[in-house]
Parts: sequence; C-alpha cells; structure tokens
Amino acid sequence: MNELQFSRHRRLRQSQGIRSMVKETTLSPSDLMYPLFVVEGEGKKNPIASMPGVYQISLDYLKEEMEEVVSLGIPSVILFGVPNHKDEVGSEAYNDEGIVQKATRLIKEQFPELVVVVDTCLCQYTSHGHCGVIKDGCVDNDPSLELLTKTAVSQAKAGADIIAPSNMMDGFVAAIRQGLDEAGYSHIPIMSYGVKYASAFYGPFRDAAHSTPQFGDRKTYQMDPANRLEAMKEALTDMEEGADFLIVKPALSYLDIIREVRNEIFVPIVAYNVSGEYAMVKAAAQNGWIDEKKMVLEMFTSMKRAGANIIMTYHAKDAARWMKEEQY
Ligand code: PBG
Repeated sequence: MNELQFSRHRRLRQSQGIRSMVKETTLSPSDLMYPLFVVEGEGKKNPIASMPGVYQISLDYLKEEMEEVVSLGIPSVILFGVPNHKDEVGSEAYNDEGIVQKATRLIKEQFPELVVVVDTCLCQYTSHGHCGVIKDGCVDNDPSLELLTKTAVSQAKAGADIIAPSNMMDGFVAAIRQGLDEAGYSHIPIMSYGVKYASAFYGPFRDAAHSTPQFGDRKTYQMDPANRLEAMKEALTDMEEGADFLIVKPALSYLDIIREVRNEIFVPIVAYNVSGEYAMVKAAAQNGWIDEKKMVLEMFTSMKRAGANIIMTYHAKDAARWMKEEQY
C-alpha cells in the first residue's frame, strides 16, 4: 500500500460544510424568470392540460399571482398574451389596448419594482399561427419586421421594462432597436431569443398560447437542432445589432450551445427551460417515478454550470420555495 500514489478527491467531499465551501455553482430565486399567460375576460384561471400547475389567467388574477412571485424573491416575469381576436396580420399584438399592454400597465402600477419582460412575437395573434406575415404561402421577413417593431414600441409605451423578441426573423434586433430608439425608448433593453431552435419541446406551450402554426412548420425561421455553428452566427449578429441579453432555447438539450455562447458572447445568457421540458418532469413526478424537487434543482444547476445567468422557467415558484428550504 505504501507505494500506491493516487489523489484523494474524497477529502473535499467528506462533510456538508466542506462540500458547501467547494461548491462551484449556486442557485438563488434571483436567477429565475417566471412566464405568465394572460387572457382576456374576467375570473379566468384556465388550467393547461399538458402543463400541470400552469394557467392562463385573466387580469383580475394578476395581483395575487404577482404578490406570490414578489414574496418568493423572483425578480422578473415574462408575459405571453392569448388574445380573443386573431387575424392575418396579428393586429392585437400592437394594439395599445391589447391584453399584454393592459397586463403590463396593471403590473407596473401595483408592483413597480417587479421587472416586466414582454415576449414580442406575432404567432399568438395571427390566424395562421406563424411568427410573421404570410406572402405566397411563406413567412415574409421584412414586412414582419415593421409589425414586430410596432409591437415592441406599443409594449414599451405600456411600461414594459425589457423587450424579448422571439420571432426569429432576420434583422429583428436591429429593427426593434431602431424603432425603440426613435420612439424615445433607448433605455429599454432587448432580450433576444436569438438562439432558438425549431424544437419538438415547444408542444405544450402551443396548447397554452394557442399558437400552433395552421400550415407547415417553423423550420424556415427557427434553427435546425443539428446545428452549432449557426447558433454562433445568430448570436454574433444579435450582438452587432445591439441585443442586451441572449436567450438560448430550449435549454436542457442545448447545454453545449449555452456553454459555447457563454464563452464567446459577453452579455447575460438566459436559458429557457421550455414547456416540453416542464411537461416531462411533471408527468414523471405525477407517476411517482422521480423526485421532482431534486431533479428540477439539478437541471437548473446544470444550466448555470453550462453558463446561463438567468433561467426562464414554469417551475420558478416551486423552485424558489425549494431553494429557500435547501442549501443549494
Ligand atoms: C413564440 C414562442 C414559442 C415559445 C416561446 N415563444 C413557441 C414557438 O416558437 O412555437 C415556446 C416556449 C415553450 O415551449 O415554453 N414564438
């Protein structure tokens, strides 16, 4: 035994105290951003079958929801609108009296400190369910930019703190930046969903937001999951165009991409733990097959270890509670 030379890694694992001292990645409720689906009407709290625990809520439920979010130490929410009226050009998206604009005003009146991020896209608002306008059966890039810019300006006017465009049109950051600046909102940051894959993991969201494309798919604007270099190209152009944050979406199957953008891009990186990732955990938990709390916190640790600074997640409220209970 005397000559045997080896490293004693276990020295640093022997007690909770030492393990805490050498922990490289920590979680806090301030890492989290909570997504909300807002619907028109009153007294509505519609459950979403494929996302247990997530609801579409009407404006009268916002206050209690926000009180909970704030009391848990979650600094931000992201709003997705589910309008009553859809048309070819998604006009409710840029209506100053649209559902998201109304929700934004209400939250900012009651909770001025809470950071309201607003999703800027057309797919929930268009009758065809695509993220831009259609010409000859295709999503037409440049006319879509005009409408997305109008949407962002209307959202900023309603009091949004951060604009988060998720449409994947080319030039959307540049167009929205210019539109915001010209309208007097040069201080409003853009959180770009610049690295967004055409993913099967968005299925449950489309139930929640009623945004399933009515024909075709999103592969002409969202990225092929097979591609890594393309993600870097997208990320770099977003930086040139003035993005202040960069979202990588989905998160779990794309941790390699999170790490790579973290190494090359010097803005905060947001991991979007999307609806399909949430649904898988919930389904397994409901069957008693997994320890939900441990699994969710481990997933979040892996996202932060990969380089994410912020985690956008439907688990946010539960996770914030769990983080307070546990030493993470
Ligand atoms: C809209 C949008 C989508 C998601 C966020 N914004 C869906 C899509 O691209 O079809 C998905 C989020 C999730 O799955 O949680 N462009």
